[in-house]
Amino acid sequence: MKSTVKSQPDAQQKVHLSASAVILAFGFIVVTSSCVTRAQNGDEVSAGLWTWKTSGCADCHGPFADGDRDDDDFPIGANVRTTKLDAAALKATIRCGRAGMGMPAFEDGAYAVYSCYGRPLSSAPANLEPSTRKLTADEIDAVIAYLQARVIGRGRITRQECLAYYDDQPDSCEDFR
Ligand code: HEC
Repeated sequence: MKSTVKSQPDAQQKVHLSASAVILAFGFIVVTSSCVTRAQNGDEVSAGLWTWKTSGCADCHGPFADGDRDDDDFPIGANVRTTKLDAAALKATIRCGRAGMGMPAFEDGAYAVYSCYGRPLSSAPANLEPSTRKLTADEIDAVIAYLQARVIGRGRITRQECLAYYDDQPDSCEDFR
């Protein structure tokens, strides 16, 4: 009898302990997975910056995407800093471009293999600006992650943003305070 009475709190304690273990383990999983997601997102943003720099985006949009183009021989790109487009609309614009407006299509097979703007498949419009290179689906997602994390809605271009873009070379950032 004595032992049954004594074993009860023991059993309760065990339940308690294993419950805390579950909570602890769960907390650990939540914390680690959110760190992993953040690290993965950081990687995607850096990959997107690389894509932005190597795909000619800055020729027309300028390095900081405000429409102050890098090269006068190119069409003037939109100010992407103030865009109201959501991820899906950004993706459609980058995949398919804007025929007759100067924005190239960056997806290989856009219009012909993959539908654009809900149109039936056909050859790409003739008045589409040519792109310097094509981007994979991952590169398009990465450049969108970059624009959303560092560019869209950021307001004026700061010296800090400029230094981050130009790998801490102050000579490239004299115009920014
Ligand atoms: C040859 C010039 C050119 C290049 C290169 C270019 N763009 Fe554009 N882009 C434009 C022009 C011009 C517009 C505005 C089109 C219009 O008026 O509808 C535009 C529009 C956009 C828009 C839509 C903005 C809005 O609010 O409607 C996004 C997003 C965009 N470009 C992203 C990119 C990205 C990312 C790259 C590189 C992968 C890129 N562009 C390369 C010229 C260019």
